[in-house]
Amino acid sequence: MFDLAVPRFDPCYYRAQFAIFAHHPDLVYLDNAATTQKPAAVLDAERQYYEYCNANVHRGAHRLAVAATDAFEGARATVARFINAASCDEIIFTRGTTEAINLIANTFGESPEQLSAGDEIIVSTLEHHANIVPWQMLAQRRGVLIKPLNLTTEGEIDLTHLAQLLASPRARLLAISHASNAIGSIQDIRAICQLAHQRDCKVLVDGAQAIAHLPVDVRALDCDFYVFSGHKAYGPTGIGAAYIRSDILRTLPPWQGGGEMIAVVSFSGTTYASPPQRLEAGTPPIAQAVGLAAALDWLSGLDREAMHAHESSLHRQLEDGLRQIPGVVIHGQARQKVSLTSMSFAPIHPYDVAQFLDNRGIAVRVGHHCAQPLIHSLGISGTLRASLALYNTADDVNRFLAALSETLEILA
Ligand code: ALA
Repeated sequence: MFDLAVPRFDPCYYRAQFAIFAHHPDLVYLDNAATTQKPAAVLDAERQYYEYCNANVHRGAHRLAVAATDAFEGARATVARFINAASCDEIIFTRGTTEAINLIANTFGESPEQLSAGDEIIVSTLEHHANIVPWQMLAQRRGVLIKPLNLTTEGEIDLTHLAQLLASPRARLLAISHASNAIGSIQDIRAICQLAHQRDCKVLVDGAQAIAHLPVDVRALDCDFYVFSGHKAYGPTGIGAAYIRSDILRTLPPWQGGGEMIAVVSFSGTTYASPPQRLEAGTPPIAQAVGLAAALDWLSGLDREAMHAHESSLHRQLEDGLRQIPGVVIHGQARQKVSLTSMSFAPIHPYDVAQFLDNRGIAVRVGHHCAQPLIHSLGISGTLRASLALYNTADDVNRFLAALSETLEILA
């Protein structure tokens, strides 16, 4: 798998595997937290699946159906291996992180043995709307209470406040991101799970921004739920996964009804399949699962420590450079961050800056990043976010810094 001719981590070697950069040779793509580009390994895997073994899964009596089922279940095994789940059956395929959290809110959240009216769900202020709104909807349905968890001024979880919230005997679930999509803060999930479990509170981790950058071992983290999207980890859109620890998973009711999720259907009463099928109604996203597995295999084949060192070094270059540009305010000073930075330039609006950058071939994201409680807690209405991936280079960062500096001078 390793090409010995490749230096320890050469981003250009990997960048060459992404056709989009050949079609857009001048593109500086710094919107990786929104979605990553896709390597040939992923595009080829999806194409080959459709060309060689496209069929529906689990119920066909012909060889293509068997091949498609093997490919789909093989993808589940790859996901389980990538995050070190104890069993493939602990992996539920979803459309992405958002659907995975909705699935958990509509199963765990609806289960009387897990939650009763008056129970409390702790939700950190860092969260993406996908890890807030499903809990608010559940609160309306079931009378559970949402307890917002404060941040420190650096943008880290306030552990004193967490201990206070966990002291409540009604705290049942903590919903927290592994890494913030808006300001990058990485949480010490293992320590947080230890604290929560001492109080018999379960922990759901939104891994959308961590999965491509950090090693994820759900057993070492000891979380109860871990969710992520394929498209943020070089995989296709329309596919993600929920890891649900098996002792919890066994107790969960179905959420969507239909084919695939049943054992026996009759008008006198229907029984359900065991998980994971119980939670996967209808024809699943088969080709997307195959593409996701290809992405995770591709990532597993890299020297991920060297990749991490490369991303961290680019991120330092980015933040050091930003500190030299007058008028730039960096939001989020957590001790550990994934390779993204949110910034503002008051009174200049981030949208105006992004337009100038786009004219120079530089792609960034602006706005509230689907994290309005966090952005409002910073006392601003939005930021410009530059987010890095393994194929970015020092030249990308230099071009961004030079264009930003020039833009701010023009707009001042
Ligand atoms: N959640 C994605 C982002 O942060 C869309 O950009």
